[in-house]
Amino acid sequence: MAESTKYLLNEDQIPKNWYNIAGDLPAPPPPPINQATGQPVGPDDLAPLFAMEMIMQEMSAEREIPIPEPVREAYKIWRPTPLVRAHRLEKVLDTPAKIYYKNESVSPAGSHKPNTAVAQAHYFKEEGTTKLTTETGAGQWGTALAFAGKLFGLEVEAYQVRVSFETKPYRRMFMEAYGATCYPSPSRRTNHGRALLDADPDDPGNLATAVAEAIEMAMSTPGTKYALGSLLNCVCIHQTVVGQESMLQLEMADDYPDVVIGCVGGGSNWAGMVYPFLGENIRNGKNTRIVAVESATCPSLTRGVYAYDYPDSAHFVPLIKMHTLGSSFKTPKMHAGGLRYHGMGPMCSYLYDHGYVEAQARQQVECLEAALVFAHAEGTLPAPESSHAVKVAIEEALRCKEEGKSETILFNLSGHGYLDLTAYQDLAAGVLEDVHFSDEDFAATMADLPQVAAE
Ligand SMILES: Cc1ncc(COP(=O)(O)O)c(C=O)c1O
Repeated sequence: MAESTKYLLNEDQIPKNWYNIAGDLPAPPPPPINQATGQPVGPDDLAPLFAMEMIMQEMSAEREIPIPEPVREAYKIWRPTPLVRAHRLEKVLDTPAKIYYKNESVSPAGSHKPNTAVAQAHYFKEEGTTKLTTETGAGQWGTALAFAGKLFGLEVEAYQVRVSFETKPYRRMFMEAYGATCYPSPSRRTNHGRALLDADPDDPGNLATAVAEAIEMAMSTPGTKYALGSLLNCVCIHQTVVGQESMLQLEMADDYPDVVIGCVGGGSNWAGMVYPFLGENIRNGKNTRIVAVESATCPSLTRGVYAYDYPDSAHFVPLIKMHTLGSSFKTPKMHAGGLRYHGMGPMCSYLYDHGYVEAQARQQVECLEAALVFAHAEGTLPAPESSHAVKVAIEEALRCKEEGKSETILFNLSGHGYLDLTAYQDLAAGVLEDVHFSDEDFAATMADLPQVAAE
């Protein structure tokens, strides 16, 4: 009998709990700390910005966190997502490896981002918030939150990194179609944005600035709070439906991964896919390799330091310990806007620093070329961010070919690239360039790291 291509679950197999890797670690990662005192912050310090339920999840060491029923109901719009065996890609690569991908591009917004957007919108609504502000890079997160805001009856205001706002107008239109408003960041709506534009009217913006503007607006507007698309462990927790479903689907295929791969910006889609498998490594002695793939244009894991740093460029929020290039790092222009953040999520950074997982960096040209190999075989055109996972999945399959091994490779196709076509156009036109940094390129922004007594 021919082996299946798609592995599909029923709606009642959507997980009832999210998985929290903190519950399986011998010690928790270092906590966020107050900039002035160097002391850990408590829930009340974070309450002006975030939903209390999310703050409690961020600090939780419970392995399982129940998914509220209204969130599971919203998930049913697109979940469970398919797990696909990439038979055709395997054939093109002539590899003995088995390649599976989890297709998160089938969500309404086109990526994994709605997995946390609907959860956050639910919690904010329950706690009486009427409006959310947020940052967005390429626009995937802004679209997801705009969709979730519409579902749960919340206004959404997104600050989009100016260079993406200008080069990806369809994402802005998509957010607006869901009823959200979207401003290019830096903007003249905030003190922080005005100061930056006064210094440089052509400031292209970056995620750290967009975060700062969204936070400034949330702090100064009644009934308004701030939603974050990545980075925090609570956001990663919401994404673990991805890995949990994948595990069930691989059981249907009577298979288990030797290696699991995801791209990392702040780390949420990767975390959502890999944490349930990492939990099996820790609890049950499984030996799956876990690989994070970042952009060589913004290599916070492979070239950054593990230190307390500012999450936003205005230094509004508490310091978090993360792999970072420094909050004033000016990322060169790149198509994978969602991988363009100076730091990595605190839990992802901790796991990398403690040797639980591997990290690699890849250039955008080789990634988009790999994405085309994938698209020609499997149909879906990956988002530029996801192309980083595709690239390393293909490399692993080719390694298996060289070594004559039929390993099982699983990766997260975190989104489609149908609103990122300029990336593929630039690739075809030969105008994309690789970026190579020297250590000196990071020296100035690393010198900006805060001095923290607790370290
Ligand atoms: C399709 C896609 N994949 C990956 C990412 C990276 O974010 P994270 O590391 O939080 O998954 C983004 C961020 O915008 C994205 O849109």
